[in-house]
Amino acid sequence: MGALAIKNVTKSFGDTDILKGINIDIDAGQFLILVGPSGCGKSTLMNIIAGLEGPTSGEVHIGDRVVNNVAPKDRDIAMVFQSYALYPTMNVRQNIAFGLETRKVPKAEQDEIIARVAKMLQIEHLLGRKPSELSGGQRQRVAMGRALARNPKLFLFDEPLSNLDAKLRVEMRAEIKQLHQRLKTTIVYVTHDQIEAMTLGDRIAVMKDGVIQQFGSPQEIYDSPANLFVAGFIGSPSMNFIPCHIAEQGGVLGVALQGEGEPVFFALPERLNVQGRVGQAVILGLRPEQFDQADAGGVACRIRITEPTGPDTMLLSQLNGRDIIARVHPRHAPAAGELCSLVPDLRKAVLFDPETQTRIG
Ligand SMILES: Nc1ncnc2c1ncn2[C@@H]1O[C@H](COP(=O)(O)OP(=O)(O)O)[C@@H](O)[C@H]1O
Ligand SMILES: [Mg+2]
Repeated sequence: MGALAIKNVTKSFGDTDILKGINIDIDAGQFLILVGPSGCGKSTLMNIIAGLEGPTSGEVHIGDRVVNNVAPKDRDIAMVFQSYALYPTMNVRQNIAFGLETRKVPKAEQDEIIARVAKMLQIEHLLGRKPSELSGGQRQRVAMGRALARNPKLFLFDEPLSNLDAKLRVEMRAEIKQLHQRLKTTIVYVTHDQIEAMTLGDRIAVMKDGVIQQFGSPQEIYDSPANLFVAGFIGSPSMNFIPCHIAEQGGVLGVALQGEGEPVFFALPERLNVQGRVGQAVILGLRPEQFDQADAGGVACRIRITEPTGPDTMLLSQLNGRDIIARVHPRHAPAAGELCSLVPDLRKAVLFDPETQTRIG
């Protein structure tokens, strides 16, 4: 069943177009991520879904009804924002109960809901405390508890973890994912953090300048980015972009890669369909993990910087005059200044058109 559909939604403030024709359709139970750099329009879209802003044109459907003219409180949604304002004079129990109180839920049922939510979020021992007596993570949990207590059709989260320190953010991320797996609710979740997007979402909309650049599963977006922007935005360290020309050698189509020595020819997989493109300029996209170190069959590269991260080591070097990062096993990683032989694995390589910046094939 369709849980949320956004149809041709635009939004302008004055004569500035912020959202330029957004289309999204998700099923009940899906976890949708809106990800993109700051200012791309994520919160504006979220506010339109919530009903805090009206679209300039287009429709928002929640469940089976158009909600353009439905007030936020009647949309059957619950929101958790970055600045999760709790009522400072109320204790945790009263904060969680607030939405139930206003909807006149009977007292016994309220107690039941609060107990269930508090148990789920492990905040039972905090129910009597005021927000000022809680840590940032605990407050965040209470804000989520308040949303969960309402049992809405749709949860909206707008950068709910960005005020937390790194360690707590990772913990809360896992908790939100667990909650989703347990409750199977529909969630729309805004973040500018691509790791959060990849780890939480089952559908990701990558946005830039008010336009959805790509909509797909995390793996689709990682493996087959629609354009250079998406390819560079998702993944850390970023995908390497290496300028090349399609060449032919012995009837095989490929590209030449050059480090310190002579250029070395590498065949491209058939999947990329580059017949008819011989001589054309392309940008080869290779993720850092698509390199290996080997004694033979590689490109001789001068290593500029070696960055051990523990499980992997990042080698910063150059191919075809462009900076690249290779992620290799730490065991035999070369030191800065040394030459090493890097073997690109082109099986998962992607190609982009330098003019249109979109993926080829
Ligand atoms: N009420 C408003 N009036 C004018 N401009 C706004 C308003 N709200 C947001 N904007 C502008 O719209 C753009 C997108 O903002 P926003 O949706 O908050 O981005 P994001 O959440 O992706 O960081 C920004 O350039 C912002 O300045
Ligand atoms: Mg925002």
